Amino acid sequence: MGYFRLRFSNFALVVVLIFCFTKVQADPKVFNVKDYGAVEGGQIDINEALLKAWNASCKYTGQAQLEIPKGDYLVKPIVLVGECNGPVVFLNKGTLKAPVGLQGLSAWLTFQYINGLTVHGGGSFDGSGPPQHAAPNLPALLKFNFVTSLTVKNVRLVNSMSTHLDLFACNNTKVTRIGISSPGDSPNTDGIKMGVVRGVTIADTTIASGDDCVAILTGSMDVTVTRVQCGPGHGISIGSLGGSPNELVRNITVSNCDFMDTMNGVRIKTKATGNPGLVSDVQFQDLTMHGADNPILIEQNYCPSKTCGPGDSKVEIKSVKYSNIKGTSKVANAVRLECSASNPCEDIELKDIDLAMEGGQGATIATCSNVKVRALGTQIPKACI
Ligand SMILES: *[C@@H]1O[C@H](CO)[C@@H](O)[C@H](O)[C@H]1NC(C)=O
Ligand SMILES: *[C@@H]1O[C@H](CO)[C@@H](O)[C@H](O)[C@H]1NC(C)=O
Ligand SMILES: *[C@@H]1O[C@H](CO)[C@@H](O)[C@H](O)[C@H]1NC(C)=O
Repeated sequence: MGYFRLRFSNFALVVVLIFCFTKVQADPKVFNVKDYGAVEGGQIDINEALLKAWNASCKYTGQAQLEIPKGDYLVKPIVLVGECNGPVVFLNKGTLKAPVGLQGLSAWLTFQYINGLTVHGGGSFDGSGPPQHAAPNLPALLKFNFVTSLTVKNVRLVNSMSTHLDLFACNNTKVTRIGISSPGDSPNTDGIKMGVVRGVTIADTTIASGDDCVAILTGSMDVTVTRVQCGPGHGISIGSLGGSPNELVRNITVSNCDFMDTMNGVRIKTKATGNPGLVSDVQFQDLTMHGADNPILIEQNYCPSKTCGPGDSKVEIKSVKYSNIKGTSKVANAVRLECSASNPCEDIELKDIDLAMEGGQGATIATCSNVKVRALGTQIPKACI
């Protein structure tokens, strides 16, 4: 009897605990923008309602959920600021649309100084772009500044005037199952751009845009990009570095990605400005190229505006491993490792590379300067050593 009672009370305790736990988990406080006066239809902007709902969500001590119901909503440029008293979910089930022709600002929707933010809901963020031509200060679609523990999942980012998702000074970020799309010929429309970030995972995402699918800029550390389909676009790039002294990118892994008709596959670019800097501990593995222009590229004399100093890049590139990179190249020169004479690339490994010409016309080649390559396994094209 005593035994039974003990067993029973343990069981009851577990039931109570599970109940409490699921209750806490499943019970966010909802702040619906319609309750704050948002009107759907896309004619009247909902900025005031959105700000009020944001303020209320941000003030709430506990799990808050700002909700955008199904429907089209016009939103003028807006900044949603913390610090908040608890974690906030931004649940977008509708389509938030920017006014046409925005210019002269850094972003359309900005989130900043927030600890614990989740953006999801199956809806869309539409920048009403793309721009007809490149212009200075065209806004990013979504910008996150100083946001810690950020998750962006299950939303679509479309028609941006510039970068679709811009991460600056964010720690601990997860971007999963999002779709990014803008036309391949829209200027400067990076998919995801990041700088000064620690701990970023981008996974299970499709990116089609007119610039880099993912751009990893200075100050980025501990970044994983996996199961991303890129294209059209300019590929996945690190840099450019060297614009300012001591720029650094470290511990980057790009794996299991597909590149569809991209201008580059994986690229590291540094400028010949005379500024020292460092790119180290980079793994590119299990990547498939479907007609990329430059599948494997290190470009240490990158100089888009011809404003570089004399001499070559002082940015060091070391410990970069390429493994199991296969598929097709649009150009014969499928592997190009152009390193700096004053700062040769160090500890570069090519393992199991199999890159053929698209359509089977002729053979691919590899070219190198100022680099010692460690070649392992299959090497098509034949590695330059
Ligand atoms: C939201 O909060 C900010 C900062 O506290 C305040 O300046 C602003 O007036 C509030 N906006 C609305 C619409 O309540
Ligand atoms: C991110 O982490 C770094 C290193 O721990 C820290 O210096 C920085 O202040 C953090 N950034 C934010 C926005 O919390
Ligand atoms: C490198 O980054 C990954 C996340 O992408 C992290 O798990 C790992 O601990 C980092 N390694 C080092 C040596 O910091």
